[in-house]
Amino acid sequence: MNISRRQFLKIAGLALTSAATARVTFEYSSRIEATWPVVEQVQVPLKNLPSALEGYKIVHLSDIHLHPFTQIEFVQEIVMLVNDLKPNLVVLTGDYVLEQAEAIFELAPVLARLQTDAGVFASLGNHDFWTNVAVVKQGFKEAGLTVLQNKGVILGTGKARLYLAGLDV
Ligand SMILES: [Fe+2]
Repeated sequence: MNISRRQFLKIAGLALTSAATARVTFEYSSRIEATWPVVEQVQVPLKNLPSALEGYKIVHLSDIHLHPFTQIEFVQEIVMLVNDLKPNLVVLTGDYVLEQAEAIFELAPVLARLQTDAGVFASLGNHDFWTNVAVVKQGFKEAGLTVLQNKGVILGTGKARLYLAGLDV
């Protein structure tokens, strides 16, 4: 089955470790309906990771493209799945909408239910700009979520710092 990239909702979880990083990916196609989360785990070693960040778990969600293919009920289901992973941090990397930027006002409050220690941080994607980036950013602001657009934050505790930066498109 040939399914284009935009027809997927991708979610990845990264567990930082000096030995390995794990990634979990769920993929969704509108052709198959919201019954096909695919979980993938990838182990990637990180050199010189501070011991305090050992096992630090990052969940990465991308390309949700709410409406018309991805429905909010599926996102709600994924948010519950992610919360069960008990991530330290969630990063969102763009393309929240597809045709209507106003969909962000339905999506962002659901994403705000993501439960983490360090927070939820978002960068923007090309479809967010192609629709109306000001509206998309306003949706995040109203939901209390931080957009990193050529900005960074320092996470972690003590000497164990994690630098997180979001770039522009
Ligand atoms: Fe996309």
